[in-house]
Amino acid sequence: MSRLIRYVLPVLLSLLTLQVSAEEYVIKFSHVVAPGTPKGKAADLFAKLVNERLKGRVRVEVYPNSQLYNDNKVMEAMRLSDSRTTGIMAAPSLSKFVKFSRTIQAFDIPYLFNDIDDVHKLVDSPVMEKMTRPLERKGLKALSLWDNGMKVFSIRGDKPLRKVPDDFKGRKFRIQSSEVHAAMIRALGGVPQKLPFKEVYQALAQGVVDGQENAWSNIHSKKFYEVQDWITVSNHSYLGYMVVVSARFWNGLPEDIRKELTAILAEATEANRRFAAEADVADRRKIEAAGKAKVVELTPEELAQWRQATAGVEKQFERQIGKELLQEIHQLLGH
Ligand code: LMR
Repeated sequence: MSRLIRYVLPVLLSLLTLQVSAEEYVIKFSHVVAPGTPKGKAADLFAKLVNERLKGRVRVEVYPNSQLYNDNKVMEAMRLSDSRTTGIMAAPSLSKFVKFSRTIQAFDIPYLFNDIDDVHKLVDSPVMEKMTRPLERKGLKALSLWDNGMKVFSIRGDKPLRKVPDDFKGRKFRIQSSEVHAAMIRALGGVPQKLPFKEVYQALAQGVVDGQENAWSNIHSKKFYEVQDWITVSNHSYLGYMVVVSARFWNGLPEDIRKELTAILAEATEANRRFAAEADVADRRKIEAAGKAKVVELTPEELAQWRQATAGVEKQFERQIGKELLQEIHQLLGH
């Protein structure tokens, strides 16, 4: 028996390992937006490059439009999955990670970032690693950060959102599953309502909610602008994504495959920033040209009011996010 363990078992095990590493790995990339958006395009590019360069070893299948999972479900599926050959990958918005990392809520603080360049200062800094590291203990491996853009507000009715809190009073706004967003809507004078992305168009069309906040590409691709009367260019916070994969699957991949996937992801990330910058301008123009929802800019005085009304949100979440981390971020951004 002991001979069997000493001599035969190692051979069997190495054969088994060979068998596993000769198999084709499958990555199911699940997301909730349309294929033509910055996230959709980056996911498709990632799949194309992997399917070309790792042909026969790794195959990526992309499932857009919540076809496979919504964002909250996909994270549970990733954490529960124990397949070594099929991995789930996704890029949920940063706002949906609060269950797994409280520090990531910093991204939702209104007016923390003046623009997308500010966001990149944080994303490209070592502070980011501090914010994503805790995810691994929860079974998620953070691989990259992708942009969509700064968010704007839309609303139905006879006047746009300009004055706070008056224009928000008694109005319901769809938000993502983020307590920071809920606090922000309340601070602006409105009523928050959490809903999955898949349900937003119907909720707006049927008047279940009056308005919502999102990036231009989502408002355009999901046709929210057809069932809203006004869009206010508030640029109040950032919509971005964390590309994540089940940690168990990732750590079990052969080293050379992991390296190649990481390099391809870096290419997709670079392209994503370009796609996002282009969509920000092009999708706004398409919405304006459609002549349905009217786009309004805030005056400097109105913007100051929005900033002032939401200034307390950071304080409210300071303990959860970490005072030191927030200080570090402010230092990095220089404001
Ligand atoms: C939303 O739920 O509004 C967004 O997170 C959707 C997305 O992935 O852009």
